[in-house]
Amino acid sequence: MMDYQGLLFDLDGVIVDTAKYHYLAWKALSDELGIPFTRQDNERLKGVSRMASFDIILELGRRTMDEAEKEANCQKKNDLYVSYIKRLTENDLLPGVRAFLADARAKGYKIALGSASKNSPLILDRLGIAGLFDAMVDGTKVSRAKPDPEVFLRGAEELCLPAGACVVFEDAAAGVEAAHNAGMKAVGIGSPEILSQADIVLPGFADVRADDVLARLG
Ligand code: BG6
Ligand code: MG
Repeated sequence: MMDYQGLLFDLDGVIVDTAKYHYLAWKALSDELGIPFTRQDNERLKGVSRMASFDIILELGRRTMDEAEKEANCQKKNDLYVSYIKRLTENDLLPGVRAFLADARAKGYKIALGSASKNSPLILDRLGIAGLFDAMVDGTKVSRAKPDPEVFLRGAEELCLPAGACVVFEDAAAGVEAAHNAGMKAVGIGSPEILSQADIVLPGFADVRADDVLARLG
């Protein structure tokens, strides 16, 4: 078995179910702009940066806007989104996440966040798990969106580990692709249909331990 030493975690959809709040905030903005936007459309936004998400919504509505107008709309969406995530508590951690992270740390694995979200610090703070991470790479530190490998390569670098010694946990197809582009194995969290490219797929972290998952990766 490969000697895996680093675990890189996506945030939204892996550690906490914030996808529903992203959806509600984008939906409110799309309604205001008169652009039809469904939960299915929202799937395309997972793992995608804020501005790239808005570009997809504008494309759905066959609309164009200048940069200033786009910035103002993204800000409006984020204000609403932040009003939701401010209410997160430790109870919003997805089942088994805290135990998985704590066990992995105790076994000596290094742990990093690899998320596109600029709100990552606020969310980890609300969930009370910021202290479980050795490094945090979020949307303020990277410029290229998944499936570009930048976010995970930076995570490995911050953990002082080679890419091949790191394993990524992701709920988005673009994130699985980013992991592979970085030369890392990807554990999909969620549905096997959406995550068909992942090396293995788990429904979540309940009763799951890092050693067992990594043994399955070979
Ligand atoms: C990703 C989410 O984690 O972060 C995307 O999957 C989101 O849906 C992106 O657009 C950026 O998040 P934020 O919090 O910086 O707007
Ligand atoms: Mg995600």
